[in-house]
Formats: sequence, C-alpha cells, structure tokens
Amino acid sequence: MYPDLMDRIVFTEEDISRRIRDMAAEINADFGQEPGPLTVVSILKGGFIFLADLIRAVGLDITVDFMAITSYRESSSVSSGVRIVKDLSQSIFDRNVLVVEDIIDTGLTLSYILRNLKERRPRELKVCTLLNRAGSRIAPLTIDYYGFEVGDEFLVGYGLDYLQKWRNLRFICTLTEKGKEGAEYEV
Ligand code: IMP
Ligand code: MG
Repeated sequence: MYPDLMDRIVFTEEDISRRIRDMAAEINADFGQEPGPLTVVSILKGGFIFLADLIRAVGLDITVDFMAITSYRESSSVSSGVRIVKDLSQSIFDRNVLVVEDIIDTGLTLSYILRNLKERRPRELKVCTLLNRAGSRIAPLTIDYYGFEVGDEFLVGYGLDYLQKWRNLRFICTLTEKGKEGAEYEV
C-alpha cells in the first residue's frame, strides 16, 4: 500500500487495540469510583478515530461531545494562539470530563483547551491521549492516561494527518520524503 510514500509502521492495529483495552480498563476503574456521569470530549479532527475505539472499550455511562480549534502559530502572523471554531454542545458544569486527544506534542493546544474548560467548573477534568511526545513539551501538563510515548518523527494514520490526508490508515506510520512532499494517492 503506497510503499513509496509510507516509510515504517510504528504502531500496528494490534498494538493500538491492545493499549486501548488497557487504557479503558484504567478509565473504567478510576471513573467507576466517581459519582456522576462522564462526558468524553474529543478534539477534532485528529482524535475522532481513537475516541470511537476508546469509548467502545469503556463500559461506563458516558456522553460524547466535540470541540474543534485552530492553531495559528504556524501562520505568517507574528502572534500565536488557539481559537475555538466549534464549541461543546452541552454544559460540563459539575460533570466528570475526560478530554481525548490523538497526540500531545508541545502541549500548547491542550493547555489552552484545559484552561478554557476549567473555567466552566467541571467536577473532575482528566486527559487521555493516544500518543505522547513528552520530549517536545513547552507547556507543562499532567496527562492522566496515554497509549504510547513517541519521538520526534512525524506520524500519520489512525486519525493523524499530514495535509489532511492519511487519517484513514488502520495503523500509525512515518512517511518517506516523497510522502512528505504531499504526493497524491488514491484510496
Ligand atoms: P501541540 O501539543 O499543541 O503541539 O499540538 C498537538 C497537535 O499537533 C495534535 O493534536 C496534532 O493535530 C498535531 N500533531 C503534532 N504532532 C503530530 C504528528 O506527528 N502527526 C500528526 N499531527 C501531529
Ligand atoms: Mg489534535
């Protein structure tokens, strides 16, 4: 499958599903003790595939909500920051909240989101990410659950994109130089 564009499989479908089972068991154990319902918040778009598998492995009474943000620190603008482009559809006041992310890199995006969500006074606010690139962290964060620690290599698949593509791979891989040039592929 696109051998000239994909470089190396870093996490297989089996690796991912095994870790999701473990993480779901921890989440069940922790939130099973907490009174009140749990809202799982997914940050679009990268987190949606992980969310779909994670919530089906979690056996608790949950609701799901979505948030989308844009980060403009890569633009030519001098300022940098994060803006909410789609907000939650329901209040999280006094609810237990689990934020689900695909990858936490510098932590700047998530620290903005957490600051924003805390102002809404949830009962409990925890973070779950499939991938953690702790070596790139700029904003210090407490991560309650993570699937895998990763290095510097740019990763795609299982929700993670490069130029909005590759999200539909069942595994996580790196791209070749040609793949990183944004070469076209057919699904
Ligand atoms: P940060 O933690 O604010 O630096 O940004 C994290 C976001 O950057 C993630 O939610 C992804 O959307 C994106 N990102 C960071 N590293 C990668 C990668 O290796 N592949 C794909 N997206 C990435
Ligand atoms: Mg993301």
